[in-house]
Parts: sequence; C-alpha cells; structure tokens
Amino acid sequence: MLAGLQNLTFEFGARAIVEDATWHIHPGERIGLIGYNGTGKSTLLKLFAGEYLPNKGTVERSRTTTIGYLHQDLLSFDTNESILQVAMGAFERVMQVQKEIDQLGKELEAEENEEKLIKYTDLLQEMDVLDGYDVEHKTEDVLHGLGFKQEDIIRPYKEFSGGWRMRVLLAKMILMKPDLLMLDEPTNHLDLPSIEWLEKYLIHYQGAVIIVSHDKYFLNRMVNKIVELYQRKLHIYSGNYSFYEQEKEVRLELQQRAFDNQQDFIRQQERFIERFKAKASKAAQAQSVQKRLDKIDRVEEASIERPSMKINFSIEKVPGKIICTLKEVNKQFGPIEILDMASAEIERGDKIALIGANGKGKSTLLRIIADRETFDGDRIWGHNVAESFYAQHQLEHLKLDNTLIEEMQTAGSKKTDLELRTVLGCFLFSGDDADKRIRVLSGGEKARVALAKTIISKSNFLMLDEPTNHLDMHSVDLLADALGKYEGSLILVSHDRYFISKTANKIWEIVDGKIVEFKGGYEEWVAWKERMEKQAKQADSTNNNKKSAQQPDKKKVSPAEEATPVVLKSGPTIDKERQKEKKKLQRQFEELETNISRLKQEKNKSELALADQEIYSDKLKFQEAEKKYNAIVQELSTSEQEYEKIFEIIMEMGDN
Ligand SMILES: Nc1ncnc2c1ncn2[C@@H]1O[C@H](COP(=O)(O)OP(=O)(O)OP(=O)(O)O)[C@@H](O)[C@H]1O
Ligand SMILES: [Mg+2]
Repeated sequence: MLAGLQNLTFEFGARAIVEDATWHIHPGERIGLIGYNGTGKSTLLKLFAGEYLPNKGTVERSRTTTIGYLHQDLLSFDTNESILQVAMGAFERVMQVQKEIDQLGKELEAEENEEKLIKYTDLLQEMDVLDGYDVEHKTEDVLHGLGFKQEDIIRPYKEFSGGWRMRVLLAKMILMKPDLLMLDEPTNHLDLPSIEWLEKYLIHYQGAVIIVSHDKYFLNRMVNKIVELYQRKLHIYSGNYSFYEQEKEVRLELQQRAFDNQQDFIRQQERFIERFKAKASKAAQAQSVQKRLDKIDRVEEASIERPSMKINFSIEKVPGKIICTLKEVNKQFGPIEILDMASAEIERGDKIALIGANGKGKSTLLRIIADRETFDGDRIWGHNVAESFYAQHQLEHLKLDNTLIEEMQTAGSKKTDLELRTVLGCFLFSGDDADKRIRVLSGGEKARVALAKTIISKSNFLMLDEPTNHLDMHSVDLLADALGKYEGSLILVSHDRYFISKTANKIWEIVDGKIVEFKGGYEEWVAWKERMEKQAKQADSTNNNKKSAQQPDKKKVSPAEEATPVVLKSGPTIDKERQKEKKKLQRQFEELETNISRLKQEKNKSELALADQEIYSDKLKFQEAEKKYNAIVQELSTSEQEYEKIFEIIMEMGDN
C-alpha cells in the first residue's frame, strides 16, 4: 500500500466533510475521485498531502512514498521565482546539496577545516549519485516540451496565467516522478490540445494517480477505479466512469426494488392488522403480526440527494433587433493572425456557441465583443443592449478576502443585502454561508458566486467564456436548462460538447480569420460538417449493411392461472372439510405467490425494455412493448388482489 485513510473523520468547525472513511491506495492504481461541488474532494487530497490533519483516524503513508499534488486553485500558490526555479523545485535534495556545497566551499576558502572538508567531499559524492549536475538541463527540456520558449523560462512565475502556471507545476511533477500523483481538476485550465497532451502523458505514467474531475470523457480514458464522495462517505467502484454510472444505477435499482417489495409486504400486513385488531377472536394474531412488523429491518428508499441550484436568468429590458455588429475586424498577436477583415452580426434571440479551431481565437473574439481587447475595425452595439461578461478565469477575479455578501455587492445591482442573500440562497449558500470568505470556498462554490454575480445584472446579452469549468455535472445540466430558457441573447465558448448541444441555436467558427456562421444547433452542425467532408472526399456511401435487428425469442407471458373465486363458508363445517379447504387455499396462496414474484420480474424486464434505446426509438416496437407492459401490470394487480383475499381468508380460518 502506498498511502491510505484509516477510519478517518474530518470536520470544518461543526461541519463534517467525511466520516469514518477507510481507503487504501495501491501502487499503479488509477483512480477518479468524484462528487458534487463542495462535498470535500479537494479536502481529501489535502489530507493525503498532509496540509490538513484529521479530527479522528489516521492518514497512512509509507515513509518512502513520494506524493505530487496539483492544486485546483492555481492562484493560491504565488512566487517571484522564475518558472525554471519553480520547476526545479522537483529536485529538492539536489537543490539542498548544492546550497550546502556552495556554503561550505566559501567557508573552506576562508579557513581550512578537516571536518568541513570531509563533509564537503561527501556532499560532492552525493551530488554525483543524484546526477545533480544535470537537473537544470533536464528541467529546461521538459519546459520546452510543454511549449515554453527559452526567454520565458527565466520570467517570474507570477506573470503567467492559469493555464501556463498549470504547465509549470506539471513540469515539476514530471521531473519528480512521485509514487502518487494527485491532480485536482487538471482539465479546467487547459485547452483541447493540452488536454490531449496530458492524457498521453498520464496513460504512460508509472505511479499511482488520483484525478479529481467533472469531465466524463477524461475520466473514462484515464481511470479504472472510481471513488465517490457522497454524503460524507466514500463509495468505491472498480471501473471507469461509465462503469460507475451503470453500476450505481444497478445498486440504486436493487435498493429500490428491495424497498418496494418490503413496502408491499408491510402494507399487506398493515391492512390485515387494521382489519382484525378490533375483532376479539383475531386480535391476538393481529398483535403478533404487528410485533413481527415492528422488528423488520427497514430498507431505505433509494433516492439520490443532489444539490439543486435555482438558476434563473431574467432580463429587464428588451433590446433592439440587432445586438452587436462587427465590421471588418482585424486582430493580430505579433505574427499570429486571429481575425482578418471579419464581419458578423448578433441578432436578438441568438444563442451562439463559438467553437472549433484549437487556437486561442475564441476567447479573443469574445473579449473583442466585450470591449476588453484592442482591435482594428468596428464593433457597434445595438439599441438598449445591457451586457454581462463572464470571463474564462472569472473566479480568479473574485476577491479572496471578501465575504460572499461583500462580493455580491460589488456587482453593482443596487439590490439590498436581503435580496442578495436570497440570490445566494438560490445558489445553495444558505444563512451563515453568506458571511464566509471567498478564500475558503471550493472551486465549484466560487464558480457559483461568479455565476450569481452574472445573473443579478439582469442583462439581455451574455458573453460567457467557459462557464462550466469547476461545475459538477448536475450543475452543468441546471445551467444549460437556465440558459435554454433565458429570454436574452448570448454567445459562449465551451469545450463541453454536451453543454453546447443543449444551449446553442447558432454556431460560429473562426476559419482563416473569418467568422463562419451556421444557423442551427450543434448536432445539426456536426451532421452538416460530416456531409461536407463526405462530399469533399466524394466517397460513395454504400455501407448499407444494416443488419435487421434480431428480436430475441421471448416467451409469451402466460395468463394468470385463474384463481377460483373463494366463497366464505358460513355455518358449521366439518373439521376435515375445513382442513381440506385450508390446504387448498394454502396451495393457491403459494401458487399466487410464485406467480406474483414471476410477474414482478416480468414487469422489471419489461420496464428495462421500454427504456432500451433500440426499442423506444422505434415506434412500432415501443407500442408493442408498452402493450405487453400494460398487460403484465394488469395481471399483477389482479393476482395481488386475489392473493390478499386468500391471505385474509386463511387468517380468518385460524390455526386449527
Ligand atoms: N478552511 C475552510 N473553512 C471552512 N470551510 C471550508 C474551508 N475549506 C473548505 N471549506 C468548505 O468545505 C467544503 C469542501 O470543500 P472542497 O474544496 O474540499 O470541495 P470539493 O469537493 O473539492 O468541491 P469542488 O468540486 O467545488 O472543487 C466546501 O463547502 C468548502 O466551502
Ligand atoms: Mg475541489
């Protein structure tokens, strides 16, 4: 074992983040750590790294285990050191030895000292063993590999933006080769090519890796184990993200089924008790049934507790038909041409996704529209436009020392504090949270504050650059829904294909310095793109190898065995007759029981079939499946009524 948590509990004040958690990490494991925003993923990593100490339990780590930890919040680490120095921090021992050698060398020049001389030669030898004279060279190599130019390497670290800082810290880790590499949301700071680079690097990484991420695709490629932090407990799944999704559904379904069955049983018993508790002759029996019922271990309902923000973008005034016009815009960064006589128009109601071209043109174009970037050409605002800009690293602009409420005040919405608190409530910050400092918020929580600030402006035109960064998948869904309902216009940049497909009604692409507009959603655009490519290749599309979907030979549901109607016998009966009658009923009862359990299985199967894409996407198949499902439900209901009736009669007949 490399490292682990043993019965660990950690609390921030009165709030428990994780309770009694045990988790062992083995060499070479590739783990995805997931959970909703603010559940405590980053906190767990900090516990491993020794930045926090547990309230109860222990963090275990073998003495030789080295850990590399990439923070989610890259700006929390700041320094005047050059990026070369920062990256060379990987060779801690070498740097230490070098320092001592320099120091001793100076001292030895001043006075001869046998002891110091011995120490000096020892250090020189250690330096040799560590291959320490080569570290600067090695570091430069890796930095170059990550896209840094020689002249950048000596610039101070703090001059660089998030994405570049991330690369410096990554370089440091590559050089360190830790036994355990912990990366907290690494893809937030990277553009697509860099993500691909990181994937390639990680796939060949020899040590164990823990990745915190909200990116399904990335997780699916990178990990073979999922640890979910949910309701202060760790839940372990041995597979990638897709496996986790399936497995979780199965676990929930099983739990729900067990719950349903138990509820059925309980209801039945309760009905019996209700009916007979007043009857003197049966009261004792009713009581014993009640006792048994009280002792049952109750199965909990399988509900998923998920945080749900109430995002509601509203507008104050309606703008003119045209929001913004770009005319013959030119933009260059040194020799790199981004826009070349580009023209475009944003109309009221447009929801534009700016995609494609892995270069850096998207954010630049957005900034040009937002007037945050110099350029040549014209940008003309329409009538009555009230705009709001969510920049790529918007959360990095939050003031760490502000409280949430102070931060909300800076948005200039003229709202009262009480109103601001209500807005914060919609973003899942309740009561006391409003007085928390931004500094202690998790990544997702900071993103929520930034979004809340965007929302209270009531603008009718939004410019959003990577708004889904840091948000958990459920929150991304909520944001997409809210933007879908938004009555204003917007333009956004995102790497999240799912998000784009849910929000955009137009696609913009920068091609050869021009803005190319596609009037349609993302899926249509993809299809159109493919068609264009096909046409270009002039390939004939004769792959008509549609196999007729083979229907498995399913057995027909047999009609329920006609349960003979049971007539209550009144008047005296011979005991033998009674016994015979009772036996018969009991047999019927058992038959019905088996029948019901079979029908329940059929019902489940049939439900799954209805949810099968192959079936619901085919109208005929779906109708057939639905008919079958209804028949089963009907039959089940009749059988259950019958079952109950017989059950009561048997109870009525008593034990003799
Ligand atoms: N120093 C602190 N004092 C009080 N509360 C804190 C402190 N640091 C973090 N928290 C709170 O603890 C919770 C867990 O934070 P953490 O950063 O571990 O979440 P996370 O799971 O990484 O979330 P995200 O997905 O948003 O990054 C959050 O609600 C956060 O506000
Ligand atoms: Mg986090």
